[in-house]
Amino acid sequence: MGLFAKRVGLIDTENAFKIGPLIRTLEEQGKEVIKCNLGEPDFPVPEFIKEEVKRQLDRDNTHYCDPQGILSLRVAIAQYLTETRGIQATADRVVVFPGAKPPIGLCQQTYCNPGDEIIYPSPGFPIYESFITYMGVQPVPLHLSEERNFTLSGIDIGPLITKKTKMIFLNFPSNPTGGVASPEQLRDLADVIRRRCSEDVRVFSDEVYEHILFDGNEHHSIISSPGMENITILVSGASKSFSWTGGRIGWAFFPTVEEAEVFKNLNINYFSCIPPYNQEGARIALESPLSGDSIRQMVTIFQERRDLVVNGLNVIRGIRCQKPKGAFYAFPNIGEVCENLGIMDAFRSLPPNLRGKTSPSTLFQMFLLFEYQVATMDRKSFGRIGAENFHYLRLSFATDTESLREGLKRISEASEDREGFRRFFNGGEHLF
Ligand SMILES: Cc1ncc(COP(=O)(O)O)c(C=O)c1O
Repeated sequence: MGLFAKRVGLIDTENAFKIGPLIRTLEEQGKEVIKCNLGEPDFPVPEFIKEEVKRQLDRDNTHYCDPQGILSLRVAIAQYLTETRGIQATADRVVVFPGAKPPIGLCQQTYCNPGDEIIYPSPGFPIYESFITYMGVQPVPLHLSEERNFTLSGIDIGPLITKKTKMIFLNFPSNPTGGVASPEQLRDLADVIRRRCSEDVRVFSDEVYEHILFDGNEHHSIISSPGMENITILVSGASKSFSWTGGRIGWAFFPTVEEAEVFKNLNINYFSCIPPYNQEGARIALESPLSGDSIRQMVTIFQERRDLVVNGLNVIRGIRCQKPKGAFYAFPNIGEVCENLGIMDAFRSLPPNLRGKTSPSTLFQMFLLFEYQVATMDRKSFGRIGAENFHYLRLSFATDTESLREGLKRISEASEDREGFRRFFNGGEHLF
């Protein structure tokens, strides 16, 4: 009998949180790290939201509240979904969670038995895959390709659907690729899912980046396609749209009241309730006419930075980067840089046990962090299964312009520093 249950070894993590202590160690040594690893907007919470939260605290709105989410916020969410998704949403089908993340694991726990299959995008938000293995469910990664702009349609998902498919995760705009599906692609996906899946299958549509879209593009959701409202769980929240990751307000809209009740009970079991003063802040965020402007300002800045980063990456020898259509990440292909720097050979020379823990993009990520002080995320941070032959990095542009320029300069220098990589590799530290 060991200390931990077996399942503890099955859960993975979100490396964006894990890399923080490494950065702090470097900073304690007096080094200035360019942080392109962050998954949160670098803007303050809009003033009118802060004001509402403060007002609620002053009113002593600090007690337990409805575990499903306060009614005023659920009504605001239902109203917002009705206006933007072309559905008739009601507050009794909405559940508020501490962020958009908790519904991921809670839904897998609620809808899936061991042996069921879950289809999810890879590269994708790491928590989808992390929970799948923890739950004893069968992971079915849907590999997104650069050639297809990291998006997908019915033809991609069709071959992966089996009788055991129980959930399908979708995420547009996507983390880490910035991929977006067009309304035609969504309709096509919906068509295949409806034809091939039973009414008991659930589509988890993660729309947490719904407002962060570039080049005038608008957000579209699969829930708007005919027949999808009955099987789609639409998830979003305040973390990205309102630059409020610490507020921990997310929500899910369920196909039925019965399902919402199950999740309300899970909230009772896990959290009791979500801080009511922050829920009131989220309500104001959804209702206020000031939100549109605050989102537009943020997205304009993200778009300028996107252009800076993508153009800057594409002039570096060996790097190829598509223009993301949404979110705030660039996802460059670094395969050639890995060849040029001798990383591929170095990787192949590792003993099997070490090779299993790292990857060429991890070696480049660590080289960038420890030798050039640029923090990025490697490919396997976004789904490990089947990722071995893909060589990408995620760079967040939720960092100020000057830092991004400096980061690009350092990446450019690092990409030519074969000797530096050899020294780093031979040092044998921080290889995974
Ligand atoms: C795709 C995706 N879903 C969900 C989340 C979690 O959001 P929250 O901070 O609201 O829990 C993130 C955060 O990075 C994300 O990228």
